Amino acid sequence: MSVFALKNGVLHAEDVALGDIAARFGTPCYVYSRAALSRAFAAYRDALAGRDATVCYAVKANSNLAVLNVFARLGAGFDIVSGGELARVLKAGGDAGKVVFSGVGKSRDEMRAALEAGIYCFNVESAAELERLDEVAGALGKRAPIAFRVNPDVDPKTHPYISTGLKTSKFGVPYAEALPLYRCARELPHLDIRGIGCHIGSQLLDPAPAAEAAGKVLALVDALAAEGIPLAHIDIGGGMGIDYRDEHAPSAAEYLAPTLQVLAGRRERLLLEPGRSLVGNAGLLLTRVEFLKHGAEKNFAVVDAAMNDLARPALYDAWHDIQPVAPHDGAIHAYDIVGPVCESGDFLGHGRELSLRAGDLLAVMSAGAYGMAMSSNYNTRPRAAEVMVDGAEIHLVRRREALAELFAAETALP
Ligand code: LLP
Repeated sequence: MSVFALKNGVLHAEDVALGDIAARFGTPCYVYSRAALSRAFAAYRDALAGRDATVCYAVKANSNLAVLNVFARLGAGFDIVSGGELARVLKAGGDAGKVVFSGVGKSRDEMRAALEAGIYCFNVESAAELERLDEVAGALGKRAPIAFRVNPDVDPKTHPYISTGLKTSKFGVPYAEALPLYRCARELPHLDIRGIGCHIGSQLLDPAPAAEAAGKVLALVDALAAEGIPLAHIDIGGGMGIDYRDEHAPSAAEYLAPTLQVLAGRRERLLLEPGRSLVGNAGLLLTRVEFLKHGAEKNFAVVDAAMNDLARPALYDAWHDIQPVAPHDGAIHAYDIVGPVCESGDFLGHGRELSLRAGDLLAVMSAGAYGMAMSSNYNTRPRAAEVMVDGAEIHLVRRREALAELFAAETALP
């Protein structure tokens, strides 16, 4: 059963009525469920039971310190893509020894910070990056642990903006160049070869492409072993999709089964980098209807959350379920749920059949992943508050931004 459900006619997060959260902290407000985060993590842990495996939560999906801390306490590792994300992981009590560092553009400063923190592995994405890392590690008198992220050229069958494993993608090193790059890495004095990785895309619903990618990666592992380059781990990336509407997303066990079969009997440690599937359905965006506009052609519900709070509808035409917090009787209309931002693309949902009154609270569902993490201050709108519910307890885990903070770093000309 979902942690977000109607009880006595009003939507709750675990044991907390969402109206109570809105009354205390205002709207827009992101609401997360600790139980949902823990359950999502447990689904991976159970699917991987009996294997040497580390789930490295992809911090980019939701980087709130409280979310990171919940996963750190559950023993997660972390997949980071910036020095900022590293700082968050450390601040939240994460174990640097379980951190993998992905991304195509790691700066020298970021490399240094990660080496000093003692991360588990750099996922290297180019020859130029390899050279820079060797040089930075040498200057620090350290050796950098590395894996190449290879591009297995597998079609993940998802939205083109979030497909990353095709030949045309900027990510990873081309499959055919992997072996020469490992040979090159072996010759560099300040590197330790640890493993190999891939990540083919996001919101994947079909488990087959992931298994196909794992098979291609395995072929490289064996070719490298034959050359005397043994690898300690295989990182199969993230990407497992979730239900936004009627996708019938597989469970972690279902999604991983074909991949685990491909990897059966292997002694290498398995790493995973899931983001969305750990947090997506553990969060919602709470918003209030400011005005209703019943037009000749269309009906609009103008709410106090906007594309700056949740960019996914505007950016990917993504569909998020929108539920009334206290459903009531009354005429049902098809509403475009729109925000106050001055862009036609500022919508959270189109044509939603709802009975609404000004002042009603709405919950934009499945907003735990790539919601707050991709929010901005566009239109000089303070970013939303974030709340974590734990049973009947409510924790404010990020207060709403104050207006003055938005331009505190700016100066007018003298
Ligand atoms: N590992 C790497 C190297 C990645 O680039 C990503 C996501 C992940 C792991 C986590 O993937 P996940 O398990 O969350 O699918 N903003 C988009 C999604 C962008 C995904 C970027 N990379 C959205 O809102 O749909």
